[in-house]
This record gives sequence, C-alpha cells and structure tokens, in this order.
Amino acid sequence: MITKQQIEAFKSISTPFYFYDMELLKKTLDIYKSQIDKYGYNAHYALKANADPRVLEMIRSYGLGADCVSGNEVKLAVKSGFDPQKVVYAGVGKSDKEIKAALKAGIFSFNCESVPEIKVINDLAKGMGVKARISLRINPDIDAHTHKYISTGLKENKFGISPWAFQAVTDLIAQCSNVELIGLHFHVGSQITEMGVFETTCRRVEELQKWFIDHNIAINNINLGGGLGINYQDPNGDPVPHFEDYFKVINKNLIVRPGQKVHFEPGRAIVGQCGHVITRVLYVKVGKEKKFAILDAGMNDLIRPALYQAYHDIENLTSDGRKIRYDIVGPVCESSDCWGQKRLVNTAQRGDIFAIHSAGAYGQVMAMKYNQRDLAKAVYSDQL
Ligand code: LLP
Repeated sequence: MITKQQIEAFKSISTPFYFYDMELLKKTLDIYKSQIDKYGYNAHYALKANADPRVLEMIRSYGLGADCVSGNEVKLAVKSGFDPQKVVYAGVGKSDKEIKAALKAGIFSFNCESVPEIKVINDLAKGMGVKARISLRINPDIDAHTHKYISTGLKENKFGISPWAFQAVTDLIAQCSNVELIGLHFHVGSQITEMGVFETTCRRVEELQKWFIDHNIAINNINLGGGLGINYQDPNGDPVPHFEDYFKVINKNLIVRPGQKVHFEPGRAIVGQCGHVITRVLYVKVGKEKKFAILDAGMNDLIRPALYQAYHDIENLTSDGRKIRYDIVGPVCESSDCWGQKRLVNTAQRGDIFAIHSAGAYGQVMAMKYNQRDLAKAVYSDQL
C-alpha cells in the first residue's frame, strides 16, 4: 500500500519511474525464508524477474541462491555477492561462451534442457579440466492453467527433456567423464494460482524420478522451479503471496527420499508486489463514447499488458473525485500500448499521479527504449 507521505514525495519526482517498496520486499522475504527454513528447503531467486541492484542486495542478504538463464545473469549474480555454490543455470540455448563462464564461476548446477547440450557441457568442461554438475530439466507435460506464453511444462513447449529421451540421456551421461548428474529440475510455468497444479507436479515428479531410481541412478536434488502466482487483482488487500499454502501442498505431496535436497526458484512471488510504475496523466481525452486517460508510462516501461494481455491494478493516487471509467493508455505509437479498458479510477485530470501496481516482476527488466523513450529509473521507499 502506497502511503500519503510517499504520494507527497512522488510529486517532486519526474515520471515515469519504478517505485520499490523495500519494507514490503523485506516482509515478503521474512515470510518466505521462515517457510523454507521450516521445511529445510533451498531457494534460488530467479534473477530474470528483477535484477535491480538494491532488490538483489536485499534478497542476497537472506542467504538465497540465484537462478539464472544467461551467462550475464550468472556473472551478475556472482558480482552481486550470491554464493556461486548456490547458483543454478537453466535455458534451452546456452552458448559455449556462457557455459564456459558458468564453469569458471563454479556454479552449483547446470539445468540441462537437451541431449546435445549435455555433450557440449562435457566437452567444454573437459577442455577446462573441470567437472560440471548437471541436473536434467524434465518436461513433465503438465498444464499449469496459466497464460499460454508463460506455460512451460507442456510437451509442446520448447523446455526440458521428455521422458522418452531418458534412456538416451543417461546412456550419454554414462559416457561423459566431465559431467556429474546431481538432480532433476521441473518448472511448469509462471503465475500459477491453483494449488492443485503443484499437487499434480509433485505426483508427476515421483512418477518420473522412479525411472531413475529403477535404473540405479541416485537423484540427490529435486528442483521444483518457480511459478507461484501473486494477486494482480487486489495487490493492496493481498500483498504477500500465499507461501504457507504453497509449501504445505509441496510438503504433503512431494515424496522426499533420505539425503535428497529440495530446491525452489521463486521469481515473481518474491518481487512482484513490491514494485509499482508511478506515472502522470498527460491528457484526458474525451471521446463520444469513452474517455481516455493518457499516461506518461507506456508499454516500453512495462510490457506485460501488451504482451500477455496481463491485468495490472491501476490507482489514481492524487484524486478523490468520484470513480469513473477510462480507457487508460500509454504514449507509445502502438494500439497495444493500453493499460486497461473501462477501468474504474478516481476522476482524472492532467498532472494526476497514477500507480500501476504489481510491477516488481518482469517489469523493469523487460523495459526497452522503443520510440527512443528513456528507461524509467528506480526509486526506493527507504530513500524518499
Ligand atoms: N525457473 C525457471 C526455469 C523459469 O523459467 C522461471 C520463469 C522461474 C524459475 C521463475 O518463475 P516465477 O517464480 O517468476 O513464476 N515474463 C513473464 C514470465 C516469464 C517467466 C519465465 N520463467 C511474465 O511477465 O509473466
């Protein structure tokens, strides 16, 4: 919840900018950490969700590891002080250069997504005289009941190794002297709000890991990826994701064998609600049938609505006029630069300050300079 003092402070800052509520981030991390400690689980924060230096520093201070999807993310994680022994690295298209950098950093595990990738990692590790720890990212063929663009665990998705390839993979690993198989990795999608999906995932993990156990292959680490959703509809009323419910479901349904470690890769759930795009109304344009509120923040600042038809709650912070409906749009020259249609907000006028909520995850990291617009800067609640 943005406070009155914070709104006052916004009045002297040029818009648009990302506002990070560091107290909410801390509170979210406190709850998350107490839950993983309760069950003895390990967490690797998914840097792709938000790589702001202050945000990373706070997450690192809780002792979380890092989940990376590129060589540069691995470098950034290590540079930001994350323990390389807690860095995992996934991605269907790891380049030789990226693999070498990760081998050099001595990361905990490569989450491998195909048979040829394992061969390349083995060859590069051999060339460097090191052994790479690898996990197999399994495609469990599960419908995450989320947007098709952020669903990753269906067999038609490009991610992961399908069960029909297990024999070929393990045959290859047996011949590779420079890779060591340490675990299995699963990530079925993002913004998952139905706990039943995680229950199904746990059952599927058990079915799939049995294949390895039956073939006398020890699986010491099970990584369940990220995916827990946040409440985009009611960010003020429900700001902290339901970690208790989530971990209860996992603990109840995942069969953990003696000596096995369980890992997670949360992204959105940690940072989603602590970020807001703060923007001003440039114009209110009155049409015959509708009113447009034209903001100075656009799809280049936060692309989720344009890219995934994602819903973000929008609030007029500086008006207490009666609520009326606007089509709320950005300034970018694209019809898809629309924040929401027929949105009910307090009567708006030029200069009003709006907040676009739940922008902490996949917001600033996905921003771009389209239309040669400036990149929005970050402002932190503890520095206002
Ligand atoms: N682990 C892996 C292997 C992933 O691919 C992802 C996200 C995560 C962890 C973190 O998932 P989370 O806890 O954040 O759901 N840009 C999209 C989301 C893309 C998610 C990509 N993978 C969006 O704005 O909704």
